[in-house]
Amino acid sequence: MNHPDSSYDVLIVGSGGAGLSLALKMADHARIAVLSKCSVSEGSTYYAQGGISAVLDEQDSLASHITDTLDAGAGLCDPEIVKLTVTHGKESIDWLRQQGVAFTEEQAANGESHLHLNREGGHSHRRIVHTADATGKAVSNALVARAQAHPNIEIFEHYNVIDLITGQKIGVSPNRVLGAYVLDIKSNKVRAIAARAFALATGGASKVYLYSTNPQIATGDGIALAWRAGCRVGNMEFMQFHPTCLYHSQGQSFLISEAVRGEGGKLILPNGSAFMHKYDPRQELAPRDIVARAIDHEMKKRGIDCVYLDISHKPSAFIQEHFPTIYKRCLELAIDITRQPIPVVPAAHYTCGGIITDANALTDISNLYAVGEVACTGLHGANRMASNSLLECLVFAERASIDILKKLPHLPKPPVLREWDESKVIDSDEEVVVSHNWNELRHFMWDYVGIVRSDKRLSRALRRIDLLKGEITEYYSHFRVTSDLLELRNLVIVAELIVRCAQQRKESRGLHFTLDYPALDKSQPARSSILKP
Ligand code: FAD
Ligand code: SIN
Repeated sequence: MNHPDSSYDVLIVGSGGAGLSLALKMADHARIAVLSKCSVSEGSTYYAQGGISAVLDEQDSLASHITDTLDAGAGLCDPEIVKLTVTHGKESIDWLRQQGVAFTEEQAANGESHLHLNREGGHSHRRIVHTADATGKAVSNALVARAQAHPNIEIFEHYNVIDLITGQKIGVSPNRVLGAYVLDIKSNKVRAIAARAFALATGGASKVYLYSTNPQIATGDGIALAWRAGCRVGNMEFMQFHPTCLYHSQGQSFLISEAVRGEGGKLILPNGSAFMHKYDPRQELAPRDIVARAIDHEMKKRGIDCVYLDISHKPSAFIQEHFPTIYKRCLELAIDITRQPIPVVPAAHYTCGGIITDANALTDISNLYAVGEVACTGLHGANRMASNSLLECLVFAERASIDILKKLPHLPKPPVLREWDESKVIDSDEEVVVSHNWNELRHFMWDYVGIVRSDKRLSRALRRIDLLKGEITEYYSHFRVTSDLLELRNLVIVAELIVRCAQQRKESRGLHFTLDYPALDKSQPARSSILKP
């Protein structure tokens, strides 16, 4: 079997939309290894439903997309980054089509075919390009096929990156990333891999919460890796809760796309009455923070387990054509969405904060890039607008690829790295510690650091995080590493970063709502929360 070695120009960690786009954009000019800790497609990208935002309609404009994004971001977006991203919408969609992604089309009155555009929360126009309600699957399948066929890209599945090896850690200056220690999950062996440039494309951290729409891989590894390597991390208090995750004992984590609301789906209480008009004039199409908080409020006030999303007033054929995946999945659980409302609850969905990067996706370390959900580029501010995430993956993969290729000829050859030292560790005889701590962490993060926070809840959470951190560090230094242990070690760091950012913010803004400071503080200049290791 083939293993990654140290002969690559660029090592990319992550095979989602961000990682594979970056690999493909560089592959004609550089040798690339892509690592994935699961199978190649397993990541949030594959599960994306609604689509990718881009200004394609004649009635729409870049200025409108920019304004909507800034508005959703509640004053914390970087306007230059928003402009940069939105301006590259159309070319990003064109690039995906060149890679073989088939987006849903419709016929205009003149018989010509063009891309069908969805509408989602916060967007004042139809501007979401999609493949029915399974856009991520279409994108992932196309990118994986392209990457697997490219002679300069090698994809290694089931390799979990443990830590980055930096010059600073081993006394080489100027500081840069020299390599990574990687757990080969199948053989349980740790390998040291060197390269000239590195990119983290490891996705988000929503699995730090008990309820989430994300796949298991979303444990914030890249954020923790970069933090341990000395990079700044920011805006971690802005964890996005998607308003409509299916509420069903056998259908956990299944998303009901915002596009359902975009096509007229109404949120209703168990008695059938609508409630969003009480919270925002945009009702169901207000930005996500507003809709999720409204649902949370109604659930807590009334002591109900869920609310309902009703699209059954639309013709059955329309629903089945636009939402085939959602229709099928719900029907498997005996919910016929053409006739019945769908039980839904908010769940952790997206990490707006992350590793601080510049307009080229460069982190604080000169040969380390961060692309996709792992990064904090300044695009999302205090709340990401729907379908801006895949767009960000594509635009910043392009930016990073240009910068890396420009720098590659000047970057030193990969050094010989010291092997991983296992002489002082043994196999664990108490794996239960890992699963117990993992459950505990997710529970208290949900209870104390969820949609509604308070100073008291945050301090409670931090006390527990300190305890867990101590236990996990001790466990890590005595026992041989496993994937579960590595993920838990990363999650506890991410949890700490979320709480510390939240504690700094003495106001409510975007996705961060606290009972102690329920209003936005207009007396202070809006600022991001940035933490330094
Ligand atoms: P991912 O696609 O999550 O990929 C992460 C990769 O990193 C995986 O390959 C994983 O194995 C690897 N990895 C992680 N840690 C390690 C490690 N330690 N070692 C090795 N490999 C590692 N956004 C939109 O714009 N439009 C949508 O319609 C939309 N719908 C969504 C629906 C759902 C259900 C979800 C969960 C998200 C949705 N999003 C949507 C958000 C969007 O899908 C993600 O933000 C985006 O796909 C992230 O892409 P990524 O490449 O950064 O990460
Ligand atoms: C959805 O389809 O509702 C998800 C869109 C997104 O997260 O951007």
